[in-house]
Amino acid sequence: MTSYDPKHIRHHFPALSQTDDLDQPLVFFDGPGGTQVTQGVIDAMSDYLVRRNANTHSAFLTSQRTDETLAAAHHALADFLNAPSADEIIFGANMTSLTFAFSRALARSWQAGDEIIITHLDHDANIAPWLALEDQGIRVRWLDFDPADCTLRLDDLDDLLGKRTRLVAVGGASNAVGTINPIKQIVDRAHKVGAQVFVDAVHLAPHVPIDVQDLGCDYLACSVYKFYGPHVGVLWGRYELLDSLPAYKVQPSDPKPPGKWMTGTQNHEGLAGATAAVDFLAALGEQYGSGYAKAFSGYSGRRLHLKQGLATIATYERDLFVHMLDGLMAIPGIEIFGITDLDRMAERAPTAAIRLDAISPQALSERLASFGIATYAGHFYAVSVIERLGLTDRGGVLRIGISHYNTYEEVDRLVEILSDLS
Ligand SMILES: Cc1ncc(COP(=O)(O)O)c(C=O)c1O
Repeated sequence: MTSYDPKHIRHHFPALSQTDDLDQPLVFFDGPGGTQVTQGVIDAMSDYLVRRNANTHSAFLTSQRTDETLAAAHHALADFLNAPSADEIIFGANMTSLTFAFSRALARSWQAGDEIIITHLDHDANIAPWLALEDQGIRVRWLDFDPADCTLRLDDLDDLLGKRTRLVAVGGASNAVGTINPIKQIVDRAHKVGAQVFVDAVHLAPHVPIDVQDLGCDYLACSVYKFYGPHVGVLWGRYELLDSLPAYKVQPSDPKPPGKWMTGTQNHEGLAGATAAVDFLAALGEQYGSGYAKAFSGYSGRRLHLKQGLATIATYERDLFVHMLDGLMAIPGIEIFGITDLDRMAERAPTAAIRLDAISPQALSERLASFGIATYAGHFYAVSVIERLGLTDRGGVLRIGISHYNTYEEVDRLVEILSDLS
């Protein structure tokens, strides 16, 4: 097996070889905000606009090629999520817009007094759309998390679930503190009372293999720009549910999924790029993931290679994260939020949320930017997480997101600069 080393794949990402005005190499720890894309993605988008650009469903060549481009994207994302059918994949502008539209459609069949459960650990895109349903009499109940390690208080879930619970909306992983939630466990408990489960997998999808059939959830959303592709949102749902739910749609559009959920003309070049992003991850799995073939023996073809690719990424990112954590923990006056126990690394994404005594998160992020290093400071729309940690008036946290293209040298440089600033 060829072992994975980011140095062998970084040339696929043209953005990674940039330097700033001071000739410092750009370093991207902003993956949770959005990742860089491969040349294959750029070529696919450009090729769409040059050779295939048209609207759908006509007999002329470029329209036919557009239909093929869209069909390929549905198949690619179905493979990525191991969805039973490509018709279960809905595309839209981004996860937030898809979730606002979908939540309203879902609630059309609910009654005043019905309940949903949301969590304090979620991004606001998996909170605000559900809170908006309070206007029609839906009761919203909150699942809290333990600020000590930023894991959900699952012991409280059974008390919140009841016969009026229609839906549990929960994140796959926190984009602020990295916690990976036990989705299968949550699904089991929710299904026992007849509630459905909507998973926001935007922060999970770049870091671990996802299988919607294995998770057992009913709906799952993610965003391709977080896993090396363009700005496109994805929503998966069980076919029979997507088929029976009333969508907000224009009269002439397809009455069946996925068309009934995909309002208006799509971002065709983005969908061409989405397929290329998925193909890149599959190629990575084929090249470096042979050691995982046994673990994923139930999959074949691109589905297998995708699982191998994401498993390869998960292992590398986890090792690099542990290396970073080692360095961070030695910095005087540092606070690190979320799981830091090295035996529990499988319960978290490689996303660090930190504060230093001496300097605010915003000032830290600005100092790092002056060295060519990209990070984010604040709440990253995970307003409830930051509020619950008591950090709203203190500028939130500095977020350092590890991606599979980050190197040990980049992490060492970051830790060195942070140590000097502490
Ligand atoms: C966990 C999580 N959920 C949802 C979103 C919103 O995704 P989008 O930008 O596709 O609307 C983000 C974006 O950062 C996120 O990190």
